[in-house]
Amino acid sequence: MAARRVRLKIQRQDNPNSKAYWEEFELRWRPGMNIISAFMDIAMNPVDRHGKQTMPITYDSNCLEEVCGSCAMRINGRAAMACSSLIDKLEQPIRLQPLSRFPVVRDLTVDRAVLFENLKQVKAWVPVDGTYDLGAGPRIDPAVQEQAYPLSRCMSCCLCMEVCPQFTESTQFVGAAIINQVRLFNLHPTGAHLREERLRVMTSDGGIHECSYAGNCVQICPKNIPLTTSISIVYGQVMKQTVRDLFQNPELTSARKEPGRR
Ligand code: SF4
Ligand code: SF4
Ligand code: FES
Repeated sequence: MAARRVRLKIQRQDNPNSKAYWEEFELRWRPGMNIISAFMDIAMNPVDRHGKQTMPITYDSNCLEEVCGSCAMRINGRAAMACSSLIDKLEQPIRLQPLSRFPVVRDLTVDRAVLFENLKQVKAWVPVDGTYDLGAGPRIDPAVQEQAYPLSRCMSCCLCMEVCPQFTESTQFVGAAIINQVRLFNLHPTGAHLREERLRVMTSDGGIHECSYAGNCVQICPKNIPLTTSISIVYGQVMKQTVRDLFQNPELTSARKEPGRR
């Protein structure tokens, strides 16, 4: 009996400015194969389906267990994580393409710097002002911990942005992952010191008002983060902050910071 084969069709691009092209590969099937293990097989023997020598595929990966968020790509047209996508569950030939909303660096590697720039804009961290011993820190109510834990599972994979109809050049929308981080850090007793600044960034160009509540983000998130709930909660916080600023800090309402973009 002929050995089982795996067929892959991979969209390649040699550099950010060159044209994309397709290459096809045929590999020997092994039990439990996923997309990353198929890439490893290609790297060991980089020849295409017709036996022509080629280059190993460039892609990002790290943890290989859906934790680091780096291996996001389009698999058969759907945004997904390569390390948890099993070959046996996919229709062949399996089409692999880079995420479409981010600039391609090479092959399946894209530049997701916009996510990290926007995390900086919303100060997605707990402020600590010194290197001296700050003590144990505030106690966090178990009820707050329960709310925060699911939000903290975000792995910056950007799938929610890839499928968001509003994440475009023209809207400059920051996307659901950023809004979720605003909710997370506003929940933290020390992180809440920067709450007002975060909420003001959310009212700038590309802020929360750009969300059309289409809900694609919550359906695709591999970590099952309640993104639309986060959006509703942060929207309420932003509204209250805007009204407060209108009366207490009117000068701020006319001079908002802009979130970053590619
Ligand atoms: S919110 Fe979910 S889909 Fe979006 S970046 Fe985080 S883990 Fe990925
Ligand atoms: S609800 Fe829709 S528009 Fe809003 S962030 Fe999610 S996918 Fe984008
Ligand atoms: S390699 Fe880390 S999420 Fe896939």
